[in-house]
Order: sequence, then structure tokens, then C-alpha cells
Amino acid sequence: MVSLGLEGARAVVTGGTRGMGAATVRRLVDEGARVVAIARNAAPVPAGVHLVTADLSTADGVEAAAAAALDHLGGLDVLIDNAGQNSPVPAGVLAADDEDWRVNLDTNLLSVVRLDRILVPHLVAQGSGAVVHVSSGAARSPQPNAIPYAAAKAALNAYSTGLATAVGPHGVRVTGVLPGIVENTESYARAAADTGRTVEQIRADLLARLPVPLGRIGTPEEAAEVIVFQASPRASYLTGILVPLDGGLLASR
Ligand SMILES: NC(=O)c1ccc[n+]([C@@H]2O[C@H](COP(=O)([O-])OP(=O)(O)OC[C@H]3O[C@@H](n4cnc5c(N)ncnc54)[C@H](OP(=O)(O)O)[C@@H]3O)[C@@H](O)[C@H]2O)c1
Repeated sequence: MVSLGLEGARAVVTGGTRGMGAATVRRLVDEGARVVAIARNAAPVPAGVHLVTADLSTADGVEAAAAAALDHLGGLDVLIDNAGQNSPVPAGVLAADDEDWRVNLDTNLLSVVRLDRILVPHLVAQGSGAVVHVSSGAARSPQPNAIPYAAAKAALNAYSTGLATAVGPHGVRVTGVLPGIVENTESYARAAADTGRTVEQIRADLLARLPVPLGRIGTPEEAAEVIVFQASPRASYLTGILVPLDGGLLASR
């Protein structure tokens, strides 16, 4: 396999214990990067990866996580802002109260803004580095029960392209990905338990509601491949872009 040029790179991956984040951590480790993963709960991580536990939806949690990551790595080359979560509002957008909006904005927008505000200046000072924001296709095609989440991710997209313009002259690249449906076995298992359906039925329902042209749900490994490429020196002329990572879903809507 051709090296992506990440040997020895110092990388932080938020939400690095499950799903796309965990796959991204594994892929970075394969490339020889030194990795700090951040999540709220302790969980197994690959050998050599340093796990920092912190809640990134709070300003204090972000500050503590950033300090611990910098302390461990002694600097930074790659930042993958992946942690995020949809807190749906089943009764619809007009029933969404301030708390519904606050939770979605804190978890999906301010978490990233705050962490970047501490870490990106280190990239700017050294004149190099790459940031990847994991957003969502929902930003461009909101689901009726998840409009606060979609709006938070849409704001993240605007922030991403603006940040790319601001830090580009300092040699720092900022890109994003817009996942469609990527396997999240734990959330499908929860939905199955809540509804008395099987996990397979949950997957089939998802694909019926969101007909992916490639005809299947993506894997975390497929997502990680794109995320890590964007973060790597192989993508040295990419910045300010948001890549749909969705088997063709956005293109078909
Ligand atoms: N899967 C999809 O179909 C899909 C589609 C579109 C967009 N996305 C976006 O892709 C990203 C990853 O999704 P995923 O499905 O791979 O996630 P996931 O499997 O649910 O894992 C989320 C990860 O983030 C951590 N996390 C969640 N909230 C956190 C917080 N407040 N502070 C620190 N860590 C936190 C979790 O660990 P703890 O629980 O221990 O904190 C876990 O490591 C998210 O931003 C999501 O919005 C996913």
C-alpha cells in the first residue's frame, strides 16, 4: 500500500472510541501516526493510542481534553473533529424547545469551534497541519425529526469553509465530510430494542427512507479511508471542501 505520509504525525481524533472515529484511529495507527482519542467514556483503544475522557459538549471538557492531548503529543499535525450526535425531536421542529436546540448546537457545533479555537493556533504557528470536520449530509437534506441537528451541522459546514479561508495562508488545510448512512450497530440495536424490530429491519427501514444509490449502508472503514486521506499530505492541495460520503445519496436528492 502507498504510504499517506502520516508516519509520526501527531493526531487527535474526537469520538475515537466507536464508529467512524474508532475506524479513523485504527487507520491512523496503521499509517504510523501517534494518536490521542477523545470520548466521554473509557473504552478499549488500539495499542499505543492515548485515550482522553472528556465531554466535548462543555467548554470545560474541551479545555481539559485539549490540554491533555497537547501534553501527551507535545504538539499537533492532524485534528479530526468527529464527535457528534443527533438528539432528535420526534414531535418536529416547532416542538423543539431551547434545550433541544442547545444540546444539538453544543454537541455538533460549539464542541468543534471550541476545540479548534484552542488547537488550530498550534497548527497556524507551525505553518502546517490538517483539520477534518465530520459533518452530515443532513445539513443539506434535513430529516423532519432532526432539524436542530441538521442546522447545527449546516452551521458547522459554513464554519469549516470560513476557517479554511482564514487559515489557508498559514499552511493549514480544513476539509469536511458529509456522511449519509454509515453503520452504527449500537444505535441500530437501541432502535431495535425500542421498537421490537430486528437490527436487520432497522437497517432495511433506513435504506427504504433514504435510498442510497449504491444500495447499502457505508462502513466506518470506508469513511475512515476518506477522512484520513483528506488529513494526509497526499491531499496537500485540498482545502475548503465538504465531501459527500454517502454512496451517492445527496446526488440523488
Ligand atoms: N453514522 C452515521 O450514519 C452518521 C451520518 C451522518 C453524520 N454522522 C456524524 O459522524 C460522526 C460520528 O458518527 P458515528 O455514527 O460514527 O458515531 P458513534 O458510533 O455514535 O460514536 C460517537 C463517538 O463520539 C463520542 N462522543 C459522543 N458525544 C461526545 C461528547 N459530547 N464528548 C466527547 N465524545 C463524544 C462517543 O463516545 P462516548 O459516548 O463515550 O462519548 C463515540 O466515541 C458524528 O459527528 C455524527 O453526527 C454519522
